[in-house]
Amino acid sequence: MSAKLKNIYVCSNCGAQSIKWSGRCLECGGWGTLQLKTVGEDEMKGAGTPESAPAEIIDLNKIKEISLNRLATGIGEFDRVVGSGIVPGSLLLLSGEPGIGKSTIVAQVADKIGQSGKGDVFYVSGEESAAQVKSRLDRLNCGLDNIKFISETDADKICSALKKLKPALAIIDSIQTVYCPEIQSEAGSLNQIRGAAVKFLEVAKQDGVAVLLIGHITKDGQIAGPKSLEHIVDTVIYLEADTTNDYRVLRAMKNRFGSVNELGIFEMTGSGFKEIVNPSLVFVESGLENISGSVLSAVMEGTRPFIVNVQALATKTSFGYPQRRASGFDLNRLQVLVAVLTKKAKINLTAEDVVLNIVGGLKLNDPAMDLAVSLAIISSLLNKVIDNKTIVLGEVGLGGEVRAVPKLADRLKEAEKLGFTRAIIPDAKVSAGKMKITKIKNVSELIGV
Ligand code: TYD
Ligand code: MG
Repeated sequence: MSAKLKNIYVCSNCGAQSIKWSGRCLECGGWGTLQLKTVGEDEMKGAGTPESAPAEIIDLNKIKEISLNRLATGIGEFDRVVGSGIVPGSLLLLSGEPGIGKSTIVAQVADKIGQSGKGDVFYVSGEESAAQVKSRLDRLNCGLDNIKFISETDADKICSALKKLKPALAIIDSIQTVYCPEIQSEAGSLNQIRGAAVKFLEVAKQDGVAVLLIGHITKDGQIAGPKSLEHIVDTVIYLEADTTNDYRVLRAMKNRFGSVNELGIFEMTGSGFKEIVNPSLVFVESGLENISGSVLSAVMEGTRPFIVNVQALATKTSFGYPQRRASGFDLNRLQVLVAVLTKKAKINLTAEDVVLNIVGGLKLNDPAMDLAVSLAIISSLLNKVIDNKTIVLGEVGLGGEVRAVPKLADRLKEAEKLGFTRAIIPDAKVSAGKMKITKIKNVSELIGV
């Protein structure tokens, strides 16, 4: 059979194919990365051709149950996020902006797992020298006996070290510095990091080595790199922060072995990360003065309720359209709430700029905050203070109706524990201990409050 030849252009960065040449790859935006390649049409074989051997059938009854003997670190906030410890043989991705503390937290995790007696931890770094890594480990008071350092960027060499020595956990800092010799593009390109990640996936699954990849993301859209790995790995964790304070939030975006709603909250100190075991207090402290536009609410993140401070500022629009700005809260949601308030609570916001902020740099999307956001806007507009011992909970519908929220009792219990004396909640049956309860059915009743 004579193969028909065809010319295509393949991007050396992301592997995208196109039939026409252009100066810029339409997929990844790389300039001058399209290269001519000639392929035979029989390269694109149909499915089920007789040449390929049939896939092996596995009887699930005969599979021994894998003991999910997780590698717990004892760092409660970390274990919570990965689901009570790292699963042996799993592949994890920890992403975050440069300088946010990824290397710091993995060093602390490496230390704890190394000391747990479950095996060695390999720390593979392509961006820092042995001396730099050692000085960080010293600074963090980590035991050096069970942490082995590898300074290597060739994925094949790293994988064969892992296959041979089978550590409990291998940390790759960072995936962007690792390269596969057979892929012809620079380290850090999409093709390279995908190729390397697949190799680590193989080692993880075949040899039971848990592999934690570190990926950098930057603010200017370079996010595509680690993002393209998210479907390959078992668990994706983000380390986020508000640049104005020392708190860091660890959040699972995907987890094949646990819940994705859990947050881990840390504080960066001179000697590494410290867990914040009771996060409610941290985010409330700064909101304790009585000021207008400031309202407290309780959000559920995973299984844990915590108290957050919502601040709004409504000011006369001085030019053009009224502005809406939100930090830590969904802007579209804010626009909906402003529209509902204008129409249903007869609060005129059409000539008001509205700025909303969640204190402490948390990014939240619990609908139970709707009522608190609405009340904060009204409080700022009318310049009326809402007492800071009041907790506000409720989801707001498009008709202005206030809906029930899940786990209301848990949230109220947390609030009472922290000394709140009054709660504004939807019309639902719930016991609220000693707190004074105001139930409201519609946002129009908020002005009375
Ligand atoms: P690092 O973990 O190197 O960040 P990443 O790997 O995400 O790029 O840490 C970054 C910052 O953390 C750096 O500015 C120094 C600071 N830091 C502390 O404040 N305390 C510490 O104990 C350590 C190790 C670092
Ligand atoms: Mg680092």
